[in-house]
Amino acid sequence: MTGRIDHVVVIGAGAMGSQIAMVCALAGHRVTLTDADPAALERATAQLRQRTDAMVAKGRRSAQEVDAAWNRWATAAVPPADADLVIEAIVEKLDAKRALFAELDARCGPDTVFASNSSSFVPSSMASATGRADRFVNLHFFNPALVMTCVEVVRGPDTADDVAAEAVEFVTGLGKVPVVLEREIPGFVANRLLGAVRDEALALYEGGYADIEAIDTAARTALGYPMGPFELMDLTGIDIGYLTKKARFAETGDPADQPSDTVAALVADGHLGRKSGRGFYLYDQAGQRLGKAL
Ligand SMILES: NC(=O)c1ccc[n+]([C@@H]2O[C@H](COP(=O)([O-])OP(=O)(O)OC[C@H]3O[C@@H](n4cnc5c(N)ncnc54)[C@H](O)[C@@H]3O)[C@@H](O)[C@H]2O)c1
Repeated sequence: MTGRIDHVVVIGAGAMGSQIAMVCALAGHRVTLTDADPAALERATAQLRQRTDAMVAKGRRSAQEVDAAWNRWATAAVPPADADLVIEAIVEKLDAKRALFAELDARCGPDTVFASNSSSFVPSSMASATGRADRFVNLHFFNPALVMTCVEVVRGPDTADDVAAEAVEFVTGLGKVPVVLEREIPGFVANRLLGAVRDEALALYEGGYADIEAIDTAARTALGYPMGPFELMDLTGIDIGYLTKKARFAETGDPADQPSDTVAALVADGHLGRKSGRGFYLYDQAGQRLGKAL
């Protein structure tokens, strides 16, 4: 491991936090994964054991590398105060994140860097709950964190240059690709690009220019996307995008941030995509696509 950051404390052992913690352990950091719910810690550890066993079985990592990572690994109910870096990956609620960071600010040493994995809250909205806005960044990992290489490093208005540089060095040391945002903006880069494509796809459909299958086909066969925007919305859940847009609209008041009529109607009818058997497309019990629903 290079750099000043040795001990990483990851808070929240859900889908994101558990894998982020293992990424750090595999890269040579001492890691403590914590969660308010002891069952979440047990679940995360069991799932990660399966994943690291599979890495060895598939020859992606040696047994020694994986054993060494587990030897650097600990779990705890309460975050230890001696972290060099805290990565927060708890529930996506601003009040909960602010309360957690305020508590950590009182307990951790002045050098500890705070990072949030939030998908929607900008650094300043959380850093203002602490007395160390200069030592606060967002480190936005993508799901699944063990696989996806991009990590957005989002600077708040008060983030110090050396902290931003340290964050980039840390992310690079994890074997990930840092994408730096010099200024904070909700949605950051990747999800804004995704949102722009999704909005245009919906506008083309609602304008009657092309049907959903044609638009998805163009995205796959002309742009090389692994799946089209309607297929992706069905996969991730139409309600997720709807709620993200609602939250953005509440923040900006910009009518362009309102969910489209098509999405609002699907959510109102409970047609949320693959998980409900119907969204833009129809699915059978096994999740196989049967055809267009719109
Ligand atoms: N799921 C994704 O695809 C994704 C992608 C990128 C970023 N994110 C962000 O990562 C964060 C976590 O998302 P997730 O999908 O892993 O959530 P999750 O619901 O799977 O896990 C959250 C965990 O946090 C724990 N928790 C809640 N409040 C806590 C507290 N005050 N102290 C300690 N533990 C607490 C819960 O017990 C739970 O185990 C969110 O901010 C989300 O926006 C999610």
